Amino acid sequence: MNYKTNFNFENLISNSIPDLIPPKEHPKPKFDFGVAYPDPESIPISELISSLSLGLEEEGKDLAYYPHPDGYPPLREFISSKLSKERGIPVSPDQMILTDGSLESIYMLSEVLIDPDDVVLTEKYCYSGTLRIFKRFSANIIGVDCDDSGIIPSDLEKKIKEIQRVGKKIKLLYTIPTFQNPLGFCVPESRRIDILSITQQFQIPILEDDCYVDLNYEKNNYPSIYSLDSSKSVIYVGSFSKIIGPGTRMGYIVAPDTILEKLRIVKSGGGVNQFAAIAIHRYSNTNLNRDINSRNDILKIKRDAMLKALTQYFKFDEEAKWSHPEGGLYIWLELNPKFDLLKLLPVAQKHNLSYQPGTMFHPDSKIGKNCARLCFGYNQPQQIDQGIKLLSELITANPDID
Ligand SMILES: Cc1ncc(COP(=O)(O)O)c(C=O)c1O
Repeated sequence: MNYKTNFNFENLISNSIPDLIPPKEHPKPKFDFGVAYPDPESIPISELISSLSLGLEEEGKDLAYYPHPDGYPPLREFISSKLSKERGIPVSPDQMILTDGSLESIYMLSEVLIDPDDVVLTEKYCYSGTLRIFKRFSANIIGVDCDDSGIIPSDLEKKIKEIQRVGKKIKLLYTIPTFQNPLGFCVPESRRIDILSITQQFQIPILEDDCYVDLNYEKNNYPSIYSLDSSKSVIYVGSFSKIIGPGTRMGYIVAPDTILEKLRIVKSGGGVNQFAAIAIHRYSNTNLNRDINSRNDILKIKRDAMLKALTQYFKFDEEAKWSHPEGGLYIWLELNPKFDLLKLLPVAQKHNLSYQPGTMFHPDSKIGKNCARLCFGYNQPQQIDQGIKLLSELITANPDID
């Protein structure tokens, strides 16, 4: 039989598939404070070419085989030495798995830990990609209040007690303690210790997402939560996305053996891309640290350009507040609660300007309309100035958007 109409998949799609994620804007707006792209000019193209070429000469024939299920061993060795030197995390290469970006790590851990309606604690506003994953696993996501130094320990304790009182199981505290996305804060050591002592008391593991740690502009050192924990309750994820580029799709997860065993079961697609890992390994062993320093010099200038423009075009405290991050890629802008930056977004996009509204980062996506995450990584300093000026003009010209 020769059916002429196209096959209809509509009725077959799983009910658990979440709504479509809006596609990234193409072409990109002129003033792009939305998605966290690094500056395309800073991608180390020739170094990556020579690293790949050297790696293929040495080991190219191994591409005939499936990679190690935990990922290319030499790259795991590099990461283990980096983590032990720089983050006080003395792990061996076999205590980690390389993944398709750190998002896959977070996805895998969610698959291992979360049953529907389990509670996951996060910072009040946190990375939208992780929220999407937690929602995919039908977690009950509860945001903990934060101030300029991160999660407020007393609110953490209060929320844990309230949740446990109604008999719900808390599976995880997910936190980005260093140069948080989107709020920009960095948690001081004493507060890291306080948070840890609460989670230890209530037997809740922490997922520490450290993907911004190397984008450190003030050179203050903050120990990883993992290094402060003697009870092995912390699971740690990191990534090459912010130090080389998200196109590398290379991240990693460090976890205690019990969890690692389960992660290996849920890891899909076999070992991570060996072709990419070979290049990243050679590059990391030669030029990575030098390049991180020079890129940080550029990012620091861009951060300062955005802070200066905000001071110039907004009145701090009267009209707006914003964060002053020591690192990372984001400034968090908070306007008068009556103002709706979600509604302003299409107007801004018509003017070639983009940002991400605060609602994207709140577990309850109705909260945060008066806030926005502004990423300073992509545009040049002069464009940042023009873009922030435009944003303030659009806000003033659209007072009815509230
Ligand atoms: C806090 C945080 N974690 C994880 C990711 C995902 O990174 P990757 O590209 O390694 O999947 C991002 C990306 O922006 C992020 O901000």
